[in-house]
Amino acid sequence: MSLKNDILFELLKRENYISGQELAEKFGKSRAAVWKAVQNLIKDGYEIDAVTNKGYRLTENNDTISARKIKLNLKEKIDVFYYPSVDSTNNCCKRLLADSKQGVFLVTADSQTAGRGRQGKSFYSPALTGVYFSLVIRPHSSLQNAVTATTAAAVAVCRAIEKLTDRKPKIKWVNDVYLDGKKICGILTEAITNFEEGTVDSVIIGIGINIKTIDFPDDVENAGTLGEKISRSRLIAEVTNELLSIAESDYNSFIDYYRSHSFVIGEQIKIIQNGRVTPATAVAIDETGGLEVELDSGEHKVLRSGEISIRKI
Ligand code: BTN
Repeated sequence: MSLKNDILFELLKRENYISGQELAEKFGKSRAAVWKAVQNLIKDGYEIDAVTNKGYRLTENNDTISARKIKLNLKEKIDVFYYPSVDSTNNCCKRLLADSKQGVFLVTADSQTAGRGRQGKSFYSPALTGVYFSLVIRPHSSLQNAVTATTAAAVAVCRAIEKLTDRKPKIKWVNDVYLDGKKICGILTEAITNFEEGTVDSVIIGIGINIKTIDFPDDVENAGTLGEKISRSRLIAEVTNELLSIAESDYNSFIDYYRSHSFVIGEQIKIIQNGRVTPATAVAIDETGGLEVELDSGEHKVLRSGEISIRKI
């Protein structure tokens, strides 16, 4: 971890001040390096009290994420890992699984340095302004199938937002969550397979929600934010509660909700697959979450893969 993250972790653990000297000794760095790292945390948006002869402390204004706060709001007991910053929470899950981590677990980070999106894109994940987390689900669950897991995740995000705010998010097939015509959440589902047995060992459901991010990089298209004052730890916990409850129920229990929140049905769309663009009309969502479309030739097709993108015309 960088000195900045080490200090953030230390400040998150304490309610009282810690002096620059103590931090410097703890991490084997100079006081000047500690001061610089604290300034960088402030630049990232953390509110830190710096008081002569006392040291540094995070103020109560910070909507900090912690494993403890998430667990307090979770209905089921699962392991939760919080890191100030990681490359990607999905990658982190893969490393934990490779280290033989067992059971259902959650990984979240304040920021991601290499957040991943679908189709090889990156996912912009700055500190403090969003939530980035991944839930690992085990094979016996009804969410074993990646398309089902992905559809369920979009439903879980919408339900959690509706529970915690007055906002009414919508879903763009297959799993982008939209608010006021802008994408506020992306979901990346990955399966870890057992090559020899041809089975899925675990499904990693990675979710990123923009809560108050405003300055998106130029190459990020049509991104928006939830724009609500909301506890980030609570939001992570509520989405997880919803997902785990869907995992225990059957598929039909949420597909109707998914349909009712879809905003492409009846719309003219473009289907984009391997760079090829085909105009069509979105007709319906079938029983397994596939998107039924009518091509201009009159032919009907069902789109199933997350590798296909659609855009409203
Ligand atoms: C997309 O819209 O293309 C999917 C974006 C998925 C982003 C989330 S953030 C948490 C998890 N970790 C990642 O690296 N990606 C997912």
